[in-house]
Amino acid sequence: MTTQGYLSELFSLDGRIAVVTGGSSGIGRVIAGALARAGAAMVVVARNEEQLAATVDELTADGCRAAWVSGDLSTRKGVREAAEKAVEPFGEPDILVNSAGINLRPPMGELGDDTWDVTMAVNLEAPFLLGQRFGPGMAERGYGRIIHITSQQAHRAFVQSGAYGVSKGGLESLARSQAEAWSPHGVTCNTLVPGFVMTPLNQRVSSDPEKVSALAARTLVGRNGLAEDFAGAAVFLASPASAYVTGHSLFVDGGFSVH
Ligand SMILES: NC(=O)c1ccc[n+]([C@@H]2O[C@H](COP(=O)([O-])OP(=O)(O)OC[C@H]3O[C@@H](n4cnc5c(N)ncnc54)[C@H](OP(=O)(O)O)[C@@H]3O)[C@@H](O)[C@H]2O)c1
Repeated sequence: MTTQGYLSELFSLDGRIAVVTGGSSGIGRVIAGALARAGAAMVVVARNEEQLAATVDELTADGCRAAWVSGDLSTRKGVREAAEKAVEPFGEPDILVNSAGINLRPPMGELGDDTWDVTMAVNLEAPFLLGQRFGPGMAERGYGRIIHITSQQAHRAFVQSGAYGVSKGGLESLARSQAEAWSPHGVTCNTLVPGFVMTPLNQRVSSDPEKVSALAARTLVGRNGLAEDFAGAAVFLASPASAYVTGHSLFVDGGFSVH
């Protein structure tokens, strides 16, 4: 067997269909690009149409099959509509990545109902509803990959974890509940756990050079994360190679969590 053939057997996503929420920015955009270049037909879901179109243009220019759906994942109705639109271009997905997320960071004492509700809706409820929509079909077809993007804050309080940390803790538990339900039928459900990654999500922190270098010093690798650091781990968790990995939290954090 050639090297190429061997690698393809392990990691190729040829013939697979993927939906990536938040696939138009940051970590989600890199993951969408990685899965599409590994062979999956890609549907990216977010709100901003310009960023969605730019993402899809970049992928199609690279010879990938890609489409976008504009939808607001902060309401149940929005999630359900986006899910139905997401199956239109290529069909029911084999791979679901939940990367859409928000981090509003008010101090705990000032955290009101609205911030709590919208954080839970986007970060936890949308992944739950999308899982309910796509998980049973994956199980019926005997192959599926669900990947959630969580956070250090699922494991430790850190820079005003507030509602965000709670939502990410719930998301890690959701992965385990989904794994219990669907892994007997070929569907693995895992989370990728970033450290501090320089993306638009944390512009406020990343514009402060002192905070940025203090966070880099907390890693073992000696630098903060880049969205690109997630490409390989995402392909692994989406591919046949990870068939026996489920309910797992894979830290892609330069050692932040063990330092
Ligand atoms: N960056 C970090 O250091 C870090 C650390 C730990 C965990 N994470 C997690 O990693 C994931 C990706 O974060 P990122 O840093 O890549 O953030 P990002 O660059 O801000 O991307 C967030 C994505 O979510 C989409 N989104 C936000 N609200 C939405 C809504 N209501 N409906 C639909 N889409 C929505 C955004 O698109 P629109 O605005 O166009 O909708 C965008 O595509 C998040 O779940 C985040 O919590 C990030």
